[in-house]
Amino acid sequence: MTERIVVVGAALFDGGRLLAARRSAPPDLAGRWELPGGKVEPGERPEGALVRELREELGVDTEPLAPVPGEWALRPPYVLHVWTARLRPGSAAPAPLQDHDALRWLTPAEVWDVDWLDQDVPAVRATLAQWAAEAHGS
Ligand code: CDP
Repeated sequence: MTERIVVVGAALFDGGRLLAARRSAPPDLAGRWELPGGKVEPGERPEGALVRELREELGVDTEPLAPVPGEWALRPPYVLHVWTARLRPGSAAPAPLQDHDALRWLTPAEVWDVDWLDQDVPAVRATLAQWAAEAHGS
């Protein structure tokens, strides 16, 4: 049996904007934008991995909110899951400390202005659908 390893990406919202992070490595991904995050370690919950990765990569203190329905294939054995999250009160603002060289807070109208990693595109689309549903109170 092939084990699949979950990579959790954060749909981090603040003030009605979604955070996008530009990867600085590896070379084949550098310059492309992603939902920041990383691999869930053995024994770790996805939402725990999200909090840890965002602390390491962006220096922020976050609260995971809810999973975005769906699972997106990455290079085997990895699959991408997304959780919505927000900054905890008193958190530092995100900074590109590790793996990234730029950050942007995107309004709903700006979401497709950045060159998302191919594999993040369907995940961002699902995140947007959930965001729109929440905005309409459903
Ligand atoms: O930090 P860690 O090594 O745990 O993970 P990572 O290198 O940030 O991500 C692991 C893999 O997931 C990489 O190969 C990325 O290409 C992929 N990934 C992705 O496709 N989309 C994301 N939003 C985050 C990671």
